Amino acid sequence: MTTTLITGANKGLGYETARRLVSAGHTVYIGSRDADRGRRAGEELGARTVLIDVTDDDSVAAAVKVVEADGGLDVLINNAGIEARTADGGVVGAGEETAESMRRLFETNVFGVVRVTHAFLPLLRRSAAPVVVNVSSSLGSLARVTAPDSPAHAYPGLAYPASKATVNMITVQYAKAFPAMRINAVEPGYTATDLNRRTGTQTVEQGAEIIVRMAQVGPDGPTGGYFDAEGPLPW
Ligand SMILES: NC(=O)c1ccc[n+]([C@@H]2O[C@H](COP(=O)([O-])OP(=O)(O)OC[C@H]3O[C@@H](n4cnc5c(N)ncnc54)[C@H](OP(=O)(O)O)[C@@H]3O)[C@@H](O)[C@H]2O)c1
Repeated sequence: MTTTLITGANKGLGYETARRLVSAGHTVYIGSRDADRGRRAGEELGARTVLIDVTDDDSVAAAVKVVEADGGLDVLINNAGIEARTADGGVVGAGEETAESMRRLFETNVFGVVRVTHAFLPLLRRSAAPVVVNVSSSLGSLARVTAPDSPAHAYPGLAYPASKATVNMITVQYAKAFPAMRINAVEPGYTATDLNRRTGTQTVEQGAEIIVRMAQVGPDGPTGGYFDAEGPLPW
């Protein structure tokens, strides 16, 4: 039996990933920072739930204890993420971004990934086939963001693309440090979720595809890579 934890799985891409991995036979933990939202999602999907706020050391440590007591972890999906939006829903542009609000975003999107991964490393090391999936974005691709013909080129924000470029680097460095694990970054594609006020052009079923696939790679699968549903992406 494969045991999988997905952070931020009470809705959006994390929820759809949980649904698919439950169907694939994984024992899934819905990670949620809100107990009620997590419990509801767990009941709907037939999954376990664990309270986890990726910005809070104590919350993450408590989640490790819960998962460890139930038998350990094979697959960690670092999915929880936020985007910098103005009060009226627009993307916070480079000219408006401040160190303080960028730090808040990094606390979730970047330090959250490190906090959770670091805390679960001892459990992952005990797994026979450990896997980590970091949910990145094509907005973290320097190649895409600098290519005038790419949709990513038009994105005006600063903090979110910087956070996902950092997630990509974190992925590569963890993958080199832990060659026995399969550790990859994935780009779901522009998907209609609360993150982007449902402006995304894909469904969550389409967006979750690469997350689900990379969660199921075997020991001979790729590691240290960056993929969308079509294949490898340029860094
Ligand atoms: N949607 C897209 O087009 C798109 C494209 C590329 C990449 N992504 C990435 O995909 C991932 C999932 O995003 P989504 O589109 O599914 O967004 P979403 O529907 O807004 O879901 C985000 C999830 O993250 C959780 N979360 C936020 N802060 C958290 C924290 N501090 N601790 C624990 N959980 C927290 C949210 O919980 P609450 O319900 O409590 O807020 C929610 O469950 C993100 O990493 C995002 O950057 C999305």
